[in-house]
Amino acid sequence: MKLLILNGPNLNLLGTREPHIYGNRAFEKYFKLLNAEFPNIELEYFQSNQEGELIDKMHEERDKVDGVVFNPGAYAHTSIALSDCIAAIDTPVVEVHISNVFDREGYRQNLLLAKNCKGFISGFGLDCYRLAVASFENGI
Ligand code: DQA
Repeated sequence: MKLLILNGPNLNLLGTREPHIYGNRAFEKYFKLLNAEFPNIELEYFQSNQEGELIDKMHEERDKVDGVVFNPGAYAHTSIALSDCIAAIDTPVVEVHISNVFDREGYRQNLLLAKNCKGFISGFGLDCYRLAVASFENGI
């Protein structure tokens, strides 16, 4: 099984970005642990701050991976284009958010992608990614 881990804008700054909300671990470090935890799953990681690059990546990988674990960052609340992209591909996408978006500003509860996703995980810190990968491994 192969999964794409896709991170959107500002998530390249994990570790130093608002650590009281997002923790103090860089994603690259966490990604190593994630790989160690799922030796039977091939994980590819891609991060971009550009909406179009995230769309291009999903188009490119849609037939090469069994699923996508996607943290769209703020695009979750604004991007019709990313929502359409997820609807357009057959590859299942699980949306993840490190913080609990329902416990924050009201505009973060506007979730344009979630209805086109297979599932939605929010509020468990970086563990959200592990839970999403496990859901694919368990065939949920
Ligand atoms: C986030 C939540 C979004 O509202 C925010 O814009 C982010 C990070 C999260 O992982 O909690 O960039 O996606």
